[in-house]
Amino acid sequence: MLRLGALAALALGWAAAWLWGRGFDPRAWLWGEAGAVWSAAELSRHTGTEEGAGLYLAVLGQVFDVQRGRKHYGPGGAYSFFAGKDASRAFATGDFTPAGLVDDISGLSPSELLTIQNWLAFYTKNYVPIGKVAGRFYHGDGTPTEVLQKAQAVMEEGQKAQAEEEEKKKQFPPCNSEWSSAGGSRVWCSKQSGGIARDWTGVPRKLYEPGSRRSHCVCVKVEGPSPGQPPASPVQTRRDLDNPNLQEYEGCHPLSDWCAVQD
Ligand code: HEM
Repeated sequence: MLRLGALAALALGWAAAWLWGRGFDPRAWLWGEAGAVWSAAELSRHTGTEEGAGLYLAVLGQVFDVQRGRKHYGPGGAYSFFAGKDASRAFATGDFTPAGLVDDISGLSPSELLTIQNWLAFYTKNYVPIGKVAGRFYHGDGTPTEVLQKAQAVMEEGQKAQAEEEEKKKQFPPCNSEWSSAGGSRVWCSKQSGGIARDWTGVPRKLYEPGSRRSHCVCVKVEGPSPGQPPASPVQTRRDLDNPNLQEYEGCHPLSDWCAVQD
């Protein structure tokens, strides 16, 4: 019986040593993905260079095991500078110098923060989350810091604004445009213009943002219900065309699907 126990202990020890040698860290397994909290110093060991230490990186304080992406993040990989650290800022700026590879996200715009959030979603989908790094985004007990909470609030706002923008684009998809030295500028509508696939073409109009003197060309549905809106009654048929923020192109027939732009 005693011999059996000793054998089992030996086998367990051997398995643990083998797993450790392959970069397995029992903390990640014991605490689960949400619980393990690393220090920046611990994280910095995991660049794939130290024997058996694994290959990790962090985004917005969340740590991922990126061993699967060794060709990118391992020694000699094009993105090896991301290994062993939280370089959130560089995901938005593309500044891969030591000064840029930092977790300081202050001064970034909402859309830059959204870029970082998209990378976080990328890692969550493609790699194994193994905890958090204590510091800028998480406290030592794994709770989010005020910096992270504020950034999350900005990202949420940014996401809402992006969704609204997408909805607006469905109603007023951008036009195609081209310029030639012979013909000048022209804008036109097609069933794919602005990257919005639809079953109507529309007519070009200048759309002014409220309170702004600048406009851009959008395609406006001529008849039928407004895209994404409930069916219009007959009197509402021209609802989109009558939008007060729209203006016709000078010298262009109101129902033409293309217009020359006179500047
Ligand atoms: C802000 C700028 C950029 C960032 C933060 C960035 C980041 C990354 C990261 C993290 C990966 C690895 C993804 C993975 O785990 O699979 C990657 C892959 C790649 N990046 Fe970039 N990148 C940037 C700009 C660029 C540019 C400008 C190019 C091309 C000119 C480029 C070309 C590539 C290619 C070809 C791959 C991977 C291909 C493969 O799967 O083998 N990246 N990028």
